[in-house]
Order: sequence, then C-alpha cells, then structure tokens
Amino acid sequence: MDDLAALRYLVELGADEAIAEAPVDRFSAPPPAELPAPARPAPAMRVVAPVASPAIAAPVPAAQAVISARDAAAAANTLDELREALAKFDGCPLKATATNLCFADGNPEAKIMFVGEAPGADEDRQGKPFVGVSGQLLDRMIGFIGLDRKTNAYIANVIPWRPPANRTPTAAEIAACEPFIRRQIELCNPQILVLVGNISTKTLLGTTDGIIRMRGKWRDYSSPGLKAPIPALPIFHPAYLLRTPAQKRDSWRDLLSLKQRIQMLSK
Ligand code: URA
Repeated sequence: MDDLAALRYLVELGADEAIAEAPVDRFSAPPPAELPAPARPAPAMRVVAPVASPAIAAPVPAAQAVISARDAAAAANTLDELREALAKFDGCPLKATATNLCFADGNPEAKIMFVGEAPGADEDRQGKPFVGVSGQLLDRMIGFIGLDRKTNAYIANVIPWRPPANRTPTAAEIAACEPFIRRQIELCNPQILVLVGNISTKTLLGTTDGIIRMRGKWRDYSSPGLKAPIPALPIFHPAYLLRTPAQKRDSWRDLLSLKQRIQMLSK
C-alpha cells in the first residue's frame, strides 16, 4: 500500500485528524500489568474492577461505567461542575478517540434547550456541538422561528465525544453518557426541550418508536431532579434533512409548532 492509499484507508476508518505532534505506536506499548480473569459465569450485576495500565487505560466494564456516570452526574450541582465531571469520566471509550469534549453551546439560561446525537468532525475539532454543516442548517432552522444560540437557545448532545467515522453510538456508549445529559437538562431546567433526531428522542423519551413516528408529537420529559415535566418535541435531525430534503416540509410544520409553544411561554 503506498502512503496515499494508507492515508485514505485511515481517513476511511475515522482517523482523519492529527491529534499530537508525533505518532504513538500503541501496538508497542507495554501490555497491562495484569489481565482480567477469563470470562466465567458470574452473578448478573457483578462488577469487575478495571485493570490499570501505564500506557492505555483499561476499558471500564459497561455496568460499572453506568454506575459511575450516575454518581458523577448526580454530584454535579452546576453546569461547570458537570462539565468537569464529564472531563474526568473514563467510562465511555469514545473519550479516548475524540479530540475534544463537546459539552454545550449557547445560553444556559435559555428557555429552549436542543439535544442532538453526538459530535461530528467539526464539533470534535472545535469542542462545540452543531458547528458543522448540519449545525449551520440547525441555526437556519431555529433562526426562522426567532431563536439564536447566542441569546435564547442552549444546545447539547446525548454523547459529548465524537464516535469514530461518525458511526452511530453503541447502546453501551449511550448508557454511559445518558446520566450526564439528563443531569445537564436538570441543571438548565429549560421550559421546552427539543429532541433533535432519533438517538436523542429514543434515549430521552425511553421509546422504541423512531423519529419518523415521533417527530412533531409533543411529549412530557421527566427526570427525578426536575420539579415538573418539561414539554419535549422530537424533530428531524438536520443531517437527515440534508440527505432527505423532501422531509423539510414536515420539519417546517414542527418548527411552527415549536414557535407557537414558545409564544405561549412568553404570555
Ligand atoms: N450532529 C449532532 O447530533 N450533534 C452535533 O453536535 C453535530 C452533528
């Protein structure tokens, strides 16, 4: 394979950015000091402690990751504390391949909060959600109804780290990050929640129905730390609209429905 072909192959795999001055050969790193015992039947909730390695952090078992995510998220009493807790959290393997944590953008005091899926390449580079092509469409969509992330909208994602090659996050990755986005919603306590796309709709509304069925239908979003449920509206993801422009008509209806709700708030 010549150099260019090798480079193309790496980009295809999602390694599309240099993240350090010098390359690191992780295959030649020393093996973990001690390997976990071979798999054998264990009680359902038994948690195996992670094995420390000087070079590569051992993956945190999925059940343990969810427990530590819940603890860390619950302990955060401000958005800054939550961002710090996420930055320290090692339970989601996506952190290891991402360049930056994409916590949020916009005004945390806004009445309207948008929650998308996960950062893409531009977001990963800038450390902010929805700044790439689909983010630009999202800005235009919310601009039509008088919203603007600098003043009256707050934007976050279910997953704050970019999945390699923009693949769909796995169930384990979503489960490890979910307590953080739920806490982020509690701490912002918006008056309206907009669920952008399939993953945030399914994750936050706990539904198996996809976005095609759910879009445009107002639902109540609840979580233990909220005083009252928040009205939540699933909408099509702008990346989907870019691929399927025929759906823009339905999307426009949903935006008008959102605008109506917002007008009711300010009365
Ligand atoms: N898609 C998302 O869902 N979130 C982003 O931040 C960017 C693209």
